[in-house]
Amino acid sequence: MTIAELEDGITDLHSHLVPGVDDGSRTTEDALEAVQRMIDREVSTIVTTPHLSGLLTRRRDDLETRLADVDRAFAEVSAAIRARHPELTFLRGHEVMLDCPDPDLSDQRLRLASSDVVLVEWPGLRIPLETPRVLERLQRQGVRLLIAHVERYRGYDEELALVEAWRAEGAMLQANYGALCGRYGEDAKVRMLRMLERGWVDCLASDFHGRPHLRVHMECARRVFEELHADEAWRLLTRVNPARIVGGAKPLPVPPIEGEPGLLGKVLSLFRS
Ligand SMILES: [Fe+2]
Repeated sequence: MTIAELEDGITDLHSHLVPGVDDGSRTTEDALEAVQRMIDREVSTIVTTPHLSGLLTRRRDDLETRLADVDRAFAEVSAAIRARHPELTFLRGHEVMLDCPDPDLSDQRLRLASSDVVLVEWPGLRIPLETPRVLERLQRQGVRLLIAHVERYRGYDEELALVEAWRAEGAMLQANYGALCGRYGEDAKVRMLRMLERGWVDCLASDFHGRPHLRVHMECARRVFEELHADEAWRLLTRVNPARIVGGAKPLPVPPIEGEPGLLGKVLSLFRS
Protein backbone atom coordinates (compact mmCIF):
# COMPACT_ATOMS: atom_id res chain seq x y z
CA MET A 1 0.00 0.00 0.00
CA THR A 2 1.31 3.49 -0.83
CA ILE A 3 1.58 6.33 1.66
CA ALA A 4 -1.17 8.19 -0.25
CA GLU A 5 -3.51 5.19 0.04
CA LEU A 6 -2.75 4.84 3.74
CA GLU A 7 -3.67 8.50 4.28
CA ASP A 8 -7.28 7.74 3.27
CA GLY A 9 -7.97 6.61 6.82
CA ILE A 10 -6.39 6.96 10.23
CA THR A 11 -3.27 4.86 10.79
CA ASP A 12 -2.70 3.77 14.38
CA LEU A 13 0.89 2.80 15.22
CA HIS A 14 0.61 1.81 18.87
CA SER A 15 -1.77 -0.72 20.45
CA HIS A 16 -1.85 -4.06 22.25
CA LEU A 17 -4.24 -6.29 20.33
CA VAL A 18 -2.40 -9.61 20.06
CA PRO A 19 -4.20 -11.88 22.54
CA GLY A 20 -2.31 -13.39 25.43
CA VAL A 21 1.15 -11.94 24.82
CA ASP A 22 1.03 -8.83 27.03
CA ASP A 23 -1.40 -6.77 29.12
CA GLY A 24 -3.61 -5.98 26.10
CA SER A 25 -6.41 -8.08 24.58
CA ARG A 26 -6.88 -11.44 26.30
CA THR A 27 -8.88 -13.23 23.60
CA THR A 28 -9.61 -13.09 19.88
CA GLU A 29 -13.08 -11.76 20.78
CA ASP A 30 -11.47 -8.87 22.73
CA ALA A 31 -9.29 -8.05 19.73
CA LEU A 32 -12.21 -8.23 17.27
CA GLU A 33 -14.27 -5.88 19.43
CA ALA A 34 -11.30 -3.52 19.81
CA VAL A 35 -10.76 -3.44 16.05
CA GLN A 36 -14.47 -2.75 15.43
CA ARG A 37 -14.33 0.22 17.80
CA MET A 38 -11.26 1.59 16.03
CA ILE A 39 -12.82 1.13 12.57
CA ASP A 40 -15.88 3.05 13.85
CA ARG A 41 -13.47 5.93 14.55
CA GLU A 42 -12.10 5.97 10.97
CA VAL A 43 -9.04 3.82 11.60
CA SER A 44 -8.13 1.91 8.44
CA THR A 45 -4.61 0.69 9.32
CA ILE A 46 -3.44 -0.74 12.63
CA VAL A 47 0.17 -1.63 13.38
CA THR A 48 -0.24 -3.36 16.71
CA THR A 49 2.72 -3.34 19.08
CA PRO A 50 3.10 -6.01 21.81
CA HIS A 51 5.44 -5.13 24.68
CA LEU A 52 8.98 -6.44 24.47
CA SER A 53 11.82 -5.99 26.96
CA GLY A 54 15.00 -4.62 25.40
CA LEU A 55 16.96 -6.97 27.67
CA LEU A 56 15.49 -9.89 25.77
CA THR A 57 17.12 -8.74 22.55
CA ARG A 58 20.48 -9.58 24.14
CA ARG A 59 19.44 -13.17 24.83
CA ARG A 60 19.11 -14.71 21.38
CA ASP A 61 17.33 -17.95 22.36
CA ASP A 62 14.84 -16.25 24.66
CA LEU A 63 14.15 -13.64 21.99
CA GLU A 64 13.47 -16.34 19.38
CA THR A 65 11.05 -18.11 21.73
CA ARG A 66 9.22 -14.87 22.49
CA LEU A 67 9.00 -13.74 18.86
CA ALA A 68 7.76 -17.17 17.80
CA ASP A 69 4.99 -16.98 20.43
CA VAL A 70 4.00 -13.49 19.27
CA ASP A 71 4.13 -14.54 15.60
CA ARG A 72 1.83 -17.47 16.29
CA ALA A 73 -0.72 -15.42 18.25
CA PHE A 74 -0.56 -12.60 15.67
CA ALA A 75 -1.16 -15.00 12.76
CA GLU A 76 -4.21 -16.41 14.51
CA VAL A 77 -5.79 -13.09 15.42
CA SER A 78 -5.02 -11.46 12.08
CA ALA A 79 -6.78 -14.34 10.25
CA ALA A 80 -9.89 -13.71 12.38
CA ILE A 81 -9.65 -9.94 11.81
CA ARG A 82 -9.15 -10.36 8.05
CA ALA A 83 -12.21 -12.61 7.84
CA ARG A 84 -14.44 -10.07 9.59
CA HIS A 85 -12.84 -6.82 8.33
CA PRO A 86 -11.19 -7.40 4.96
CA GLU A 87 -11.04 -3.61 4.48
CA LEU A 88 -8.68 -3.17 7.45
CA THR A 89 -4.89 -3.37 7.14
CA PHE A 90 -3.64 -5.12 10.27
CA LEU A 91 0.13 -5.27 10.78
CA ARG A 92 2.56 -5.77 13.63
CA GLY A 93 5.57 -4.22 15.29
CA HIS A 94 6.65 -4.15 18.92
CA GLU A 95 6.90 -1.59 21.70
CA VAL A 96 10.46 -2.12 22.87
CA MET A 97 11.26 -1.04 26.41
CA LEU A 98 14.72 0.51 26.66
CA ASP A 99 15.46 -1.24 29.95
CA CYS A 100 19.09 -1.81 29.03
CA PRO A 101 21.47 0.68 27.42
CA ASP A 102 22.27 -1.39 24.35
CA PRO A 103 19.32 -3.41 22.99
CA ASP A 104 19.91 -5.12 19.65
CA LEU A 105 17.24 -3.81 17.25
CA SER A 106 18.49 -5.69 14.21
CA ASP A 107 15.61 -8.20 14.00
CA GLN A 108 13.08 -6.90 11.48
CA ARG A 109 10.24 -8.24 13.63
CA LEU A 110 10.99 -5.56 16.24
CA ARG A 111 10.15 -2.82 13.75
CA LEU A 112 6.79 -1.36 12.70
CA ALA A 113 5.55 -3.61 9.89
CA SER A 114 8.26 -3.73 7.23
CA SER A 115 9.60 -0.26 8.00
CA ASP A 116 12.88 0.89 9.57
CA VAL A 117 11.07 2.32 12.60
CA VAL A 118 11.13 0.91 16.14
CA LEU A 119 8.59 2.10 18.69
CA VAL A 120 10.49 2.49 21.97
CA GLU A 121 9.58 3.45 25.53
CA TRP A 122 11.62 4.43 28.58
CA PRO A 123 11.28 1.97 31.47
CA GLY A 124 8.78 2.52 34.26
CA LEU A 125 7.70 5.86 32.78
CA ARG A 126 10.84 7.38 34.28
CA ILE A 127 13.55 8.85 32.12
CA PRO A 128 17.00 7.32 32.61
CA LEU A 129 20.19 9.40 32.39
CA GLU A 130 21.95 10.14 29.12
CA THR A 131 18.91 9.44 26.93
CA PRO A 132 19.97 11.58 23.95
CA ARG A 133 23.19 9.55 23.77
CA VAL A 134 21.22 6.28 24.00
CA LEU A 135 19.05 7.37 21.07
CA GLU A 136 22.06 8.44 19.03
CA ARG A 137 23.76 5.08 19.61
CA LEU A 138 20.65 3.03 18.79
CA GLN A 139 20.09 4.89 15.54
CA ARG A 140 23.54 3.83 14.42
CA GLN A 141 21.94 0.38 14.02
CA GLY A 142 20.17 1.79 10.95
CA VAL A 143 16.77 2.29 12.57
CA ARG A 144 14.58 5.30 13.14
CA LEU A 145 13.10 5.61 16.62
CA LEU A 146 9.56 6.61 17.54
CA ILE A 147 9.25 7.41 21.25
CA ALA A 148 5.98 6.07 22.63
CA HIS A 149 3.55 8.22 24.68
CA VAL A 150 6.07 11.02 25.04
CA GLU A 151 3.73 12.99 27.31
CA ARG A 152 3.58 10.31 29.99
CA TYR A 153 7.12 10.28 31.39
CA ARG A 154 7.99 11.97 34.65
CA GLY A 155 11.08 14.10 35.14
CA TYR A 156 10.80 16.78 32.44
CA ASP A 157 11.83 20.30 33.26
CA GLU A 158 9.49 23.21 32.63
CA GLU A 159 10.90 23.93 29.16
CA LEU A 160 10.89 20.27 28.07
CA ALA A 161 14.58 20.58 27.14
CA LEU A 162 15.01 16.82 27.08
CA VAL A 163 12.23 16.42 24.53
CA GLU A 164 13.95 19.00 22.38
CA ALA A 165 17.23 17.06 22.72
CA TRP A 166 15.52 13.82 21.59
CA ARG A 167 14.15 15.61 18.56
CA ALA A 168 17.60 17.02 17.83
CA GLU A 169 18.89 13.43 17.79
CA GLY A 170 16.30 12.64 15.10
CA ALA A 171 13.87 10.66 17.26
CA MET A 172 10.19 10.96 16.35
CA LEU A 173 7.56 11.53 19.03
CA GLN A 174 4.22 9.75 19.45
CA ALA A 175 1.58 10.96 21.92
CA ASN A 176 -1.54 9.14 23.14
CA TYR A 177 -5.06 10.34 22.30
CA GLY A 178 -6.10 9.53 25.85
CA ALA A 179 -3.73 12.05 27.42
CA LEU A 180 -5.89 14.88 26.06
CA CYS A 181 -8.89 13.32 27.78
CA GLY A 182 -7.18 13.16 31.18
CA ARG A 183 -6.52 9.42 30.97
CA TYR A 184 -3.06 9.84 32.54
CA GLY A 185 -3.79 12.79 34.79
CA GLU A 186 -3.54 16.55 34.53
CA ASP A 187 0.27 16.76 34.27
CA ALA A 188 0.44 14.51 31.21
CA LYS A 189 -2.38 16.47 29.55
CA VAL A 190 -0.62 19.79 30.13
CA ARG A 191 2.71 18.38 28.90
CA MET A 192 1.05 17.11 25.73
CA LEU A 193 -0.59 20.46 25.04
CA ARG A 194 2.75 22.22 25.60
CA MET A 195 4.38 19.90 23.05
CA LEU A 196 1.54 20.47 20.58
CA GLU A 197 1.94 24.22 21.06
CA ARG A 198 5.56 23.82 19.98
CA GLY A 199 4.71 21.52 17.04
CA TRP A 200 6.90 18.77 18.47
CA VAL A 201 4.55 15.77 18.33
CA ASP A 202 4.88 13.76 15.09
CA CYS A 203 1.89 11.44 15.42
CA LEU A 204 -0.95 10.39 17.69
CA ALA A 205 -1.87 6.80 18.55
CA SER A 206 -4.34 4.97 20.74
CA ASP A 207 -2.05 2.71 22.83
CA PHE A 208 -5.36 0.83 23.10
CA HIS A 209 -5.07 -2.23 25.31
CA GLY A 210 -8.04 -3.87 23.57
CA ARG A 211 -10.26 -4.89 26.45
CA PRO A 212 -14.02 -4.28 26.56
CA HIS A 213 -13.96 -2.02 29.65
CA LEU A 214 -11.30 0.32 28.23
CA ARG A 215 -11.98 3.37 26.06
CA VAL A 216 -10.26 4.32 22.80
CA HIS A 217 -10.35 8.06 23.68
CA MET A 218 -10.17 9.24 20.08
CA GLU A 219 -13.41 11.27 20.05
CA CYS A 220 -12.44 13.31 23.05
CA ALA A 221 -9.02 14.08 21.52
CA ARG A 222 -10.77 15.07 18.28
CA ARG A 223 -12.99 17.50 20.21
CA VAL A 224 -9.91 19.17 21.73
CA PHE A 225 -8.44 19.72 18.24
CA GLU A 226 -11.77 21.10 17.02
CA GLU A 227 -11.90 23.48 19.95
CA LEU A 228 -8.38 24.65 19.08
CA HIS A 229 -9.31 25.05 15.37
CA ALA A 230 -6.45 22.67 14.56
CA ASP A 231 -7.95 20.54 11.78
CA GLU A 232 -4.78 20.50 9.70
CA ALA A 233 -2.68 19.41 12.68
CA TRP A 234 -5.22 16.64 13.37
CA ARG A 235 -4.98 15.40 9.77
CA LEU A 236 -1.18 15.41 9.89
CA LEU A 237 -0.98 13.71 13.30
CA THR A 238 -3.56 10.99 12.64
CA ARG A 239 -3.44 10.27 8.91
CA VAL A 240 -0.49 11.77 7.08
CA ASN A 241 2.42 11.32 9.50
CA PRO A 242 1.62 7.82 10.78
CA ALA A 243 1.31 6.73 7.14
CA ARG A 244 4.61 8.38 6.28
CA ILE A 245 6.40 6.93 9.31
CA VAL A 246 5.35 3.37 8.53
CA GLY A 247 5.85 3.97 4.80
CA GLY A 248 9.53 4.90 5.24
CA ALA A 249 9.19 8.68 4.80
CA LYS A 250 9.92 11.53 7.17
CA PRO A 251 6.90 12.91 9.02
CA LEU A 252 5.83 16.35 7.85
CA PRO A 253 6.22 19.32 10.22
CA VAL A 254 3.06 19.84 12.26
CA PRO A 255 2.01 23.47 12.61
CA PRO A 256 2.22 24.62 16.23
CA ILE A 257 -1.25 24.73 17.70
CA GLU A 258 -1.66 28.35 18.59
CA GLY A 259 -4.69 29.44 20.45
CA GLU A 260 -5.67 33.00 21.05
CA PRO A 261 -4.43 34.08 24.51
CA GLY A 262 -6.17 32.07 27.19
CA LEU A 263 -7.53 29.45 24.81
CA LEU A 264 -5.26 26.74 26.13
CA GLY A 265 -6.51 27.36 29.67
CA LYS A 266 -10.09 27.25 28.43
CA VAL A 267 -9.52 23.93 26.69
CA LEU A 268 -7.82 22.50 29.76
CA SER A 269 -10.79 23.38 31.92
CA LEU A 270 -13.31 22.10 29.35
CA PHE A 271 -11.70 18.67 29.23
CA ARG A 272 -10.92 18.16 32.88
CA SER A 273 -10.74 14.47 33.77
FE1 LIG B 1 1.91 0.69 24.80
